[in-house]
Amino acid sequence: MSIQYDEAARLFHLKTKNSSYQMKADSVGTLLHLYYGEAVTSDMSYLIRYTDRAFSGNPYVQRNSRCYSLDILPQEYAGSGVGDYRLPAIQVIAENGSRSVDLTYEGCKIFRGREALTDLPYVRGGGEEETLEITLSDPVIGLRVLLYYTVFEEEDVIVRSAKIVNQSEKPIYLEKAASACIDFPCGRYDLMHFHGRHCMERQAERMTLPNGVASFGSRRGMSSHHSNPFVILCDKNCTENAGSCYGFMLMYSGNHLEEAERDQMGSVRMVAGIHPDGFSWLLNPGDSFQTPEAILSFSASGLNGLSGQYHRLLQKRVIPAKFQHTKRPVLINSWEAAYFDFNAEKILRFARSAKELGMEMLVLDDGWFGHRNDDTSSLGDWTVNEEKLGCSLKTLSEQIHALGLRFGLWFEPEMISEDSMLYQAHPDWALKDPDRKPTIGRNQMVLDMSRPEIVDYLFAAISAVLDHAQIEYIKWDFNRSVANFFSAGLPARRQGELAHRFILGTYRLLDRLLKRYPDLMIEGCAGGGGRFDAGMLFYCPQIWCSDDTDAIERLEIQRGTSYGYPVSAMGSHVSASPNHQTGRAVPLHTRGIVAQSGTFGYELSPEGLPDAEKKEIRNQIAAYHQYSDLIAQGRYYRLNELDSSEDFSAWMFVSEDQSEALVNLVMTHIRANGPLPFIKLCGLSAEKAYRLEGTDQVFSGAALMHGGYSFPLPFGDYAASQLHFLETTIE
Ligand code: GLA
Repeated sequence: MSIQYDEAARLFHLKTKNSSYQMKADSVGTLLHLYYGEAVTSDMSYLIRYTDRAFSGNPYVQRNSRCYSLDILPQEYAGSGVGDYRLPAIQVIAENGSRSVDLTYEGCKIFRGREALTDLPYVRGGGEEETLEITLSDPVIGLRVLLYYTVFEEEDVIVRSAKIVNQSEKPIYLEKAASACIDFPCGRYDLMHFHGRHCMERQAERMTLPNGVASFGSRRGMSSHHSNPFVILCDKNCTENAGSCYGFMLMYSGNHLEEAERDQMGSVRMVAGIHPDGFSWLLNPGDSFQTPEAILSFSASGLNGLSGQYHRLLQKRVIPAKFQHTKRPVLINSWEAAYFDFNAEKILRFARSAKELGMEMLVLDDGWFGHRNDDTSSLGDWTVNEEKLGCSLKTLSEQIHALGLRFGLWFEPEMISEDSMLYQAHPDWALKDPDRKPTIGRNQMVLDMSRPEIVDYLFAAISAVLDHAQIEYIKWDFNRSVANFFSAGLPARRQGELAHRFILGTYRLLDRLLKRYPDLMIEGCAGGGGRFDAGMLFYCPQIWCSDDTDAIERLEIQRGTSYGYPVSAMGSHVSASPNHQTGRAVPLHTRGIVAQSGTFGYELSPEGLPDAEKKEIRNQIAAYHQYSDLIAQGRYYRLNELDSSEDFSAWMFVSEDQSEALVNLVMTHIRANGPLPFIKLCGLSAEKAYRLEGTDQVFSGAALMHGGYSFPLPFGDYAASQLHFLETTIE
């Protein structure tokens, strides 16, 4: 049983394989958080101490007990306005203007399995997990909060969400509704978050938690390049391979906020959910609001351990089941090969050359629809530009399939160009404030995805293209931040709902398309990796990691992404050298090794390559076929500590049965007479013996993990090495 409930003590114990999570409803009904961490068997209530703290007031029922204060006690879902001055999990405005929420325990329900969410992505249950539903309520305003906890025992994950129900006779405005809130006792913690920008997403930053609030989030209408909805709280001494750490991942692609508050006594409150800025949701009597899910995980074996837990969960329970074990085709994408300058003849030439090199799918990127020859027009007009192509898309797709390649196509569904037939017909379909000119981004506006008729239009328009030609894959782009959060379809009092309704519309469209085309593979994209989150992964088994295809920059981007997300989901391509974004020249071998640690493909002209490069590409594709299973399904380990001063980046994969490992090392800086690149391997079996492929050298797992391995002195810019170890028997 992964959920234990001691009714007399009103104590809850959630157990995963290696962690425990405890909470308790106390005598006055406050739901106290007791513990989250390494597995324990004891009742952890002893950790609660009642201490008189000045300026931390007492609830009226405890007015004679100055030691009882909501401002001091660790809460499970903090209310607001009633004496806990830390970050609230929930904020409301009642009809009379009151902003107080005081939640107390009402009851609980434990059941096997979990209920699928209807409008939001969710962690898919397998039937064996258990779910706890705790009901809290505030009888004064007639508000009920249902807290959900599903325990995935094997995966060491607890999935939380909340449902807010208006049980009163009057409307209530919800101003904040976190998915999860937890209080940690006083300790020495660091916080990691993943910030960035276009072309440099998910940069890991680790910081000492300051006193006060550290907050990270997005108000861009998308999870964003700038701040990923994933943070890690870890012990000061936590490293890649040792120490305790906690992950908080929001399964959401819209505006989000992750907050950490170190309070007056050094305790830490973590709160994660939809960003409250600009958010307001009208709950009429009887209405309810479901928050997105937050995926919590704890590891006592360092950051690599925590990442492994997220990788396994996302692969097994988030990405569409069909793609969990499906080898992804080696693709060639037309974007950096041709940008907007193509016709069917050129694309077919690419396809022929790509096929000769061993590639398996051609993706036609932006520029095939409306009259789009640059980024100033046609978004919304999803009709094929046959004049530009010189034939129909059906003919082109047939010719590509006749060569033995699959065919993929680019869309940017949620956008509209001013220069489009769609905008002429429906100017009010773009998000914009009345009487105010819209904010433009990349020459485009954003469609109002909160309106069902717009979702219907997009469903019909995309389906028409998918029905017309044979298309196995679509790249789903989103190339600007959202602004002008105003919908012509919503009354004034509901405009605060728009940002959330927008993303619900996107999810609905994705869901409808996947129901109609269950074999379709959708690669998420948002100007590169601007929507790389667990919400999108629910629909898209892979997401384009970044518009920066420079292999050396990609080392940091893919490393940062790997803290939360599996390599099998990271779109990564070999592009031309010098690179189009940075002008840097990187050897083809190195570009191949970096792209191989992702969903492998090419984004360069496959025509006219020198023979040596053609040979290298064929070798890379052969290596991809050899290692794709190990890379996609194996365990991934970062071999450098964050901010290490090493002149290289190294990472490795180990098969589940520890019989095989692939080690990658890329030099990021070359020095004359420099130190040998030296690493200690991870995740091997200490007792097993491993042969280094291509040599007769045999090492024990213990030697490689504890003694390490040094590489020969590299020469030249950005050299890379790849080592493949296979289990062997010692004679
Ligand atoms: C975005 C994507 C690119 C490409 C362009 C096309 O920037 O990330 O890969 O598809 O759009 O406009």
